[in-house]
Amino acid sequence: MKIKVLGSGAGGGLPQWNCNAINSRDARQGHEFVKPRSQSSIAVSANDKDWLLLNASPDIRQQIFDNKELHPHEDGPVRNSPIQAVMLTNADVDHITGLLCLREGHAFNIYASDRVMSTLNTNSIFSVLNKEKVHRHTISQNEPFDVTGAEGSLGLKVTTFNVPGKIALFLEDASDSKNFGSSEGDTIGVNVEDIATGKNFYYIPGCAELDAPLKERLIGADLLFFDGTLFTNNEMLDQGLLPKTGERMGHMNMSADNGSLAAFKDLNITQKIYIHINNSNPVLRDNSPERKQVEDAGWQVSYDGMEVNL
Ligand code: MLT
Ligand code: MN
Repeated sequence: MKIKVLGSGAGGGLPQWNCNAINSRDARQGHEFVKPRSQSSIAVSANDKDWLLLNASPDIRQQIFDNKELHPHEDGPVRNSPIQAVMLTNADVDHITGLLCLREGHAFNIYASDRVMSTLNTNSIFSVLNKEKVHRHTISQNEPFDVTGAEGSLGLKVTTFNVPGKIALFLEDASDSKNFGSSEGDTIGVNVEDIATGKNFYYIPGCAELDAPLKERLIGADLLFFDGTLFTNNEMLDQGLLPKTGERMGHMNMSADNGSLAAFKDLNITQKIYIHINNSNPVLRDNSPERKQVEDAGWQVSYDGMEVNL
């Protein structure tokens, strides 16, 4: 199974359009240690020909251009694409709006929880994806299914599960002081298995907390992509970017006693990779002490175009 990181950044990417903080400024100016990053999404294939996307970012047009695996097949009809299916992990702008670029009458399948699918179903702009060709499959958590595309099985089995998190920002209910109207299915994690080999990995780009059930599930995993939004809970406030903590945004930070570095320390996961990394995060600087700290703790920081084989 081949995995390509199409985008490693969080919402807004790096540089972010209206941000002149140090990471965005340096990325914009071509700093050798601060590479640009598009918004988070990965592509997975068991046969190197048909691909499943995990989330569809607003940068998808450029991501397809940058990854030749996603170019139309040379020997196919004039209209064709290796993208056979898209699985959504939440309804955030950075994860669903790329669907709007996948129009032009191409047939593929969308998979999402009932909560996320209802966001697509109640926003008429998603009708640009002709329902006759683009089939919407509402899937239940903890029920494995065989991913199909317009041309049949992709040889991949997916199991989704709830993770602690939050409803998409634009759907927040301010009157619910507890968690803004969030409910199960708003944020899910995904396990993708290559049916032929049994090899499998986890994709969890948004997660508020490593609770006991999630911890139990991930112990001993071969490969994990995990929420790398922030290094510290307060960094967006400290940099004057947004008056919100990671906690408020539904993202677990890396550092501190309650961070992911500490939480994953003894879970015996072979390969741990951060993704959905916000433009404020100092690990985005290749030579920063924070980058060294996460690498010393056994984590990799994903980058656009990264390839992992399992
Ligand atoms: C998030 O990951 O918290 C969201 O993408 C935030 C947003 O929509 O800007
Ligand atoms: Mn996001």
